[in-house]
Amino acid sequence: MEKLISKYFVPGKTFSLAEFEQDGGYQAARAVFDKFPDPKALVEEVKKSNLRGLGGAGFPAGMKWSLVPQNTGKPVYLVVNADEGEPGTFKDKYILRHVPHLLLEGIIIAAYANNVHKAYIYIRGEYTHPYDMLQKAVKEAYDKGYLGKQIFGREFALDVVVHRGAGAYICGEETGLLESLEGKKGFPRLKPPFPAVVGLFGCPTVINNVETLSYLPYILNRGAEWFAKLGSEKNGGLRLFSVSGHVQKPGVYELPLGVSLREIIYTHAGGIRGDRKLKAVVPGGLSAAIFRADEIDVGMDFDQLRAKNTMAGSAGVIVMDETTCIVKALYVTMRFYGHESCGQCSPCREGTGWVSKILRRVAEGRGRTGDVNNLLDICSFMGGTTICALADGAAMPLRSYIEKFREEFEYYVKHGKSMVDGTALETQTLHDTSHMSHVGS
Ligand SMILES: Cc1cc2nc3c(=O)[nH]c(=O)nc-3n(C[C@H](O)[C@H](O)[C@H](O)COP(=O)(O)O)c2cc1C
Ligand code: SF4
Repeated sequence: MEKLISKYFVPGKTFSLAEFEQDGGYQAARAVFDKFPDPKALVEEVKKSNLRGLGGAGFPAGMKWSLVPQNTGKPVYLVVNADEGEPGTFKDKYILRHVPHLLLEGIIIAAYANNVHKAYIYIRGEYTHPYDMLQKAVKEAYDKGYLGKQIFGREFALDVVVHRGAGAYICGEETGLLESLEGKKGFPRLKPPFPAVVGLFGCPTVINNVETLSYLPYILNRGAEWFAKLGSEKNGGLRLFSVSGHVQKPGVYELPLGVSLREIIYTHAGGIRGDRKLKAVVPGGLSAAIFRADEIDVGMDFDQLRAKNTMAGSAGVIVMDETTCIVKALYVTMRFYGHESCGQCSPCREGTGWVSKILRRVAEGRGRTGDVNNLLDICSFMGGTTICALADGAAMPLRSYIEKFREEFEYYVKHGKSMVDGTALETQTLHDTSHMSHVGS
């Protein structure tokens, strides 16, 4: 199977501008001005490619661009989401580390399509090496005249600013990210208005994920129809699946949208470690609903996974074998959301906080009758009523882990220990307030 982006993932190597160009790099960006004298035609081409947003929500990229008003008298900004905070997801890091010029080429194409002259890349703070590689690439591109005043000698200016985050998951949510970029606390904004209309500094703003933009050069070089055909219906192209957990070969695999989950686990990731049995899989990053082992014959695209009440999300595939205690796994998961909730909305702040406290109690063997139903009750108030999708992303694992593995929760409460490994977590002597860190922030 042909590799597009992932052919550059050579261990220990970052492709320089010269090496990237030798491989055909920057051809698409150089040609875009003549190929599409009217940028609107480029937006139509991207629409035809069925390129979906690969950061999580899967919104069609061309469609998003066509919603950006060009007549407001204000500049249009491009913001690149390189925060990559979704647990189980590590594919943007590979692009930034091995082939940052591919992202820059995608940025040039998106900037031309949307009449953008300033782009910001918001990169996860912990990504120190990828940040260094990205900065080096930006400098190389400026030195060569591919960024700056007249890029490729054309009457088109484009500046790129790299901005580092500081370790908050919520700053990956697009409007939290914009707030953070403006120098404020990363509190998500109420929508509408959507960032396409009122975004960075009150101006129309296109926000796309690193991987989404990195596929643009391929669409331009080889055509929208070719790209669309690589994937499944309305889900064009390939995408990078981050596979982690109990598999023989964890890593990043570039495969067509719509590939089966079974094929990812057993063919590409080498099956389950130690020849144990598969127990469960999270298909699209931690916020996706979990599958049991008998549910993996499913096509991994945005629409097929939604039809199964979960989501393709960021394509972080987390594989759990039969030794996994689902109760402890859910506790760790909910502690994360409790810690990362920004605290603006009560259902999210209180819901994630209380759920992680109750799960802690259960995991320590001090569960009470009624705890399991109580968790589901809290869950039903969490989703759908909040400013951003973090709460829905917490409710999905909560409900699905309990509904699909209820007997494990009941057993843990009744016996004070795990049905799987026969142990309970140590009781914490100090009151754990880590998940309430937003209070007073
Ligand atoms: C809590 C939360 C965290 C998110 N974190 C990220 C992230 O780290 N990276 C990302 O690209 N998108 C993330 N998203 C999705 C973004 O809000 C947005 O949909 C995306 O950046 C748009 O780009 P795309 O259309 O190219 O996918 C997150 C969403 C939520 C609700
Ligand atoms: S849903 Fe949670 S994370 Fe999102 S804005 Fe509300 S409190 Fe903050």
